[in-house]
Amino acid sequence: MNDRAMPWRWTCGVVALLCGVACARGGGANAGVPPEKVADFVHAVIAADRATYAEEVVHRLQDVEKVVRATEQFREEKGLPLPSQMLRMGAQRAAKSGGFRYALISAWAINKANMPRTDFETRGLAAVAQAPDAVYRSTEEVGGKRYFMSLYPDVAVSEACVSCHNGHAESPRKDFKLNDVMGGVVVALPLE
Ligand code: HEC
Repeated sequence: MNDRAMPWRWTCGVVALLCGVACARGGGANAGVPPEKVADFVHAVIAADRATYAEEVVHRLQDVEKVVRATEQFREEKGLPLPSQMLRMGAQRAAKSGGFRYALISAWAINKANMPRTDFETRGLAAVAQAPDAVYRSTEEVGGKRYFMSLYPDVAVSEACVSCHNGHAESPRKDFKLNDVMGGVVVALPLE
């Protein structure tokens, strides 16, 4: 390193530092990912995991290889959990991180713990049942904290969804058809 190069390098360093601060203060604040996008990303992961589990684990081992069945009483019967049970167990673990929450709910729930519990959930389920392509969103206060809420329609994508729910003793609705909205996935992101 020669001495004449030093001031130039130093100037460069300061300019880079100032730019970094300016960017963090100005552009950075606006350049964040909007909450709609974050919720959409989270939902995409939940939906992809559920579909992969349903297809590559449940369908393959139960219907193709015929080695083990998926059953609601999976512990007692040494079977596989249903996709909806997998989702809930994952959601319970994720909730322990203290950050965002998610859940699979329905106004026609087999498991009454999956019924809507808030105005937002009741309104959102009614809205997506009417418009299955839409996402219902709102900012809500829960326990003194503000959350950005999104509710995504959960659609009967296969005959298996329809026949299992219509035939289940605990199902309050028995007339589901293919492509009906059966419920919704709620994603709650804390805003503070
Ligand atoms: C083999 C039976 C079975 C199949 C197949 C099945 N479900 Fe379910 N589903 C259940 C049971 C049982 C529950 C309740 C489990 C729990 O959460 O404890 C449930 C829960 C749900 C819930 C939450 C509300 C509720 O009823 O408790 C939704 C929404 C749902 N399923 C949608 C679907 C969709 C969409 C499909 C197809 C992609 C599907 N289910 C396939 C049995 C099934």
